[in-house]
Amino acid sequence: MEVIIRPNEDDASRLVAKIIARELRARPQLVLGLATGRTMETVYDKLACLHRDEGLDFSLCRTFNLDEYIGLSRDDPHSYRHYMNEHLFARVNIDQRNTHLPNGMATDVKAECKHYEHLIHDCGGIDVQLLGIGRSGHIGFNEPLSAMRSRTRDKALTPETIAQNAPLFGGDLSKVPRRAITMGVGTILECGRCIVLATGAEKAAIVAKAVEGPITSTITATAMQLHAHCTVVVDEAAASKLKNTDYYRWIFDNEPEWQEFRR
Ligand code: F6R
Repeated sequence: MEVIIRPNEDDASRLVAKIIARELRARPQLVLGLATGRTMETVYDKLACLHRDEGLDFSLCRTFNLDEYIGLSRDDPHSYRHYMNEHLFARVNIDQRNTHLPNGMATDVKAECKHYEHLIHDCGGIDVQLLGIGRSGHIGFNEPLSAMRSRTRDKALTPETIAQNAPLFGGDLSKVPRRAITMGVGTILECGRCIVLATGAEKAAIVAKAVEGPITSTITATAMQLHAHCTVVVDEAAASKLKNTDYYRWIFDNEPEWQEFRR
């Protein structure tokens, strides 16, 4: 794992967009795992700008989102499909047929989860997975005590996650779906590379636990410590409770991989 600290949210999300752009340019058929939530909005805006201004090409790219609410149709303005269309898919030259999210309206949820795993497998697995961290420490909707080997399945959301996401439902807790389909921790750990983005002071405590705390299923983001190629990007606010920041900064300043991103 490596931790990159950027001065603010804008710089942190620009760096994440640039890493994804570099991966996509190197491999136009990239299988990209995507996340939703407020943190990712700036990343998608920057990717859309890279498409518009520099011709970043998504035409061969295939995507798999981490999760979708159960009970919301793809046209529902609160669905993650709608979010992805609005923030990214409609703004770049991606083929909609290459974009995948779990079907939150599936009548047979277990079959849908199995189907999603098969789709990922048939695409050759996820090359790069983008991740946020929830206040409960979740990645995807892998709430506390999700098994480290869990696969795509339906999960109940914790009260903390329901409260975190309520602003997107007009602040009405009762409108936030209680369940979601999510890739499992095991599914996520199989991807080729993870990029985790967390910004803002409200994420500082959970980022410190995820990066420097013991690995535990009560904070599924700690599973990232097990991944062979994981980059955690944070702004100064989200980094404020980390202990080893001098070391992280030294690595960023000295690793050849980051040379083009230091400018
Ligand atoms: C959403 C997802 C979640 C979010 C996390 C952070 O697809 O996978 O794990 O990344 O809840 O959400 P925000 O960015 O809204 O704080």
